[in-house]
Amino acid sequence: MVKSVAAPQAKGKSAEDKIFGANNRANALAEEIGVDKVINGTVGSILDEDGQLVMLKVVQDAYKALTPKEIVSYAPIQGYPDYLDAVIDQCFGQSRPDGYIRACATSGGSGVLHHVIHNYSEWGDDVLTSDYHWGAYGSMCHDNGRTLREFELIDPNGAFNFASFKDHVTDMVSKQYNTVIIINSPANNPTGFALTSQDWDNVLAFLKDVVKGKDKNIILVPDVAYLDYSGEKQECRKFFKKFGNLPDNILVIVAYTCSKGFTMYGQRMGAMICVTPNKDIADEFVAINQYTSRATWSNSNSAAMKAMVNICKDPAKVAELDAERAKYFNLIKERADIFMKEAQACGLKYLPYLSGFFITIPMTDSQKVCDAMEKENIFLVPLGKGIRLAVCSVSKKKITGLAAKLKKTVDAVGAKQ
Ligand SMILES: Cc1ncc(COP(=O)(O)O)c(C=O)c1O
Repeated sequence: MVKSVAAPQAKGKSAEDKIFGANNRANALAEEIGVDKVINGTVGSILDEDGQLVMLKVVQDAYKALTPKEIVSYAPIQGYPDYLDAVIDQCFGQSRPDGYIRACATSGGSGVLHHVIHNYSEWGDDVLTSDYHWGAYGSMCHDNGRTLREFELIDPNGAFNFASFKDHVTDMVSKQYNTVIIINSPANNPTGFALTSQDWDNVLAFLKDVVKGKDKNIILVPDVAYLDYSGEKQECRKFFKKFGNLPDNILVIVAYTCSKGFTMYGQRMGAMICVTPNKDIADEFVAINQYTSRATWSNSNSAAMKAMVNICKDPAKVAELDAERAKYFNLIKERADIFMKEAQACGLKYLPYLSGFFITIPMTDSQKVCDAMEKENIFLVPLGKGIRLAVCSVSKKKITGLAAKLKKTVDAVGAKQ
């Protein structure tokens, strides 16, 4: 028997991460036989056409200009006030919803999700998200004694599966005081799917109704990690406006991160932003989440906040930032278009992709197919119901022909789509 000294609730936890595992194998092989001969479709960061990790130029410049004090200071636990203003502005753009809006700095978007689960659901509760979701949600729930529950994101017609969403929420509200719902849209990881404006209207009307007159709350968490690569700047933010004027018992907490939009992945900088019509709920939001920050990582990364703020307070730099983001949004779109066009031509199915870092190819036996692809030096991520391809990181040259290879492998392995 393996010796263990972990406390009972921690026993058996292990962080076997399929994504990092496949990425490590791809890198090791590239080192051995050359980068040109390996296709690494696992990386969830933007790589340029030469396979280099992109750090936006305007962000590089902002880092180089930081003073020692800006870099090493302890920041306030809630975050610098100018950072909090900047994240609210960057997140909502011209679609700032009405109501009390407050922000707390967090360790990336992950920090937001941790705090929401920790502070707004109870031990033993279910937390709802879609069947296609970022794997870390499950770990965060499990690590906090919660269970991640899944509704079906996409119906057989390729639209948002509102019926499945309603069924799960109705059941959860009947059983729990708070129902935490994480919706990763737009640019859903791993599908690239997004709710339409009408979907959001339906969701919000239903949520209002399901808790109306009840001592029950909905905590709605739009996870917008990939927002800045999801469309035209103001257009893709319009849905935020809908979060104004909801009742007191629907609290919206937007999970915002600088990881992708500022290419600051490893800097661990994000923010949770609440929208509520009730001042007490907004004050409580700051108090409890600030407390949890103090009780976990303490204060956030000063350098990252200051680099972000120094860009955002200068309209010329914001224009540069927007232009750089638009460039990479277009590059990712070109790659995705190549893949989708070729997939259609060879009869490979993929889930409805609108924007974002990933495309999902639904199938059975995803692990077997990924294993077979690895033999051809192509590295992809197996999911429960398909395979994830990172269009953010595979060049146009390398993505060309990939759909046909995948189709061949799916057929050879006998996987069903
Ligand atoms: C769906 C989703 N949400 C949130 C995040 C937040 O990441 P981070 O904690 O690095 O900001 C990620 C990153 O991969 C993600 O894919």
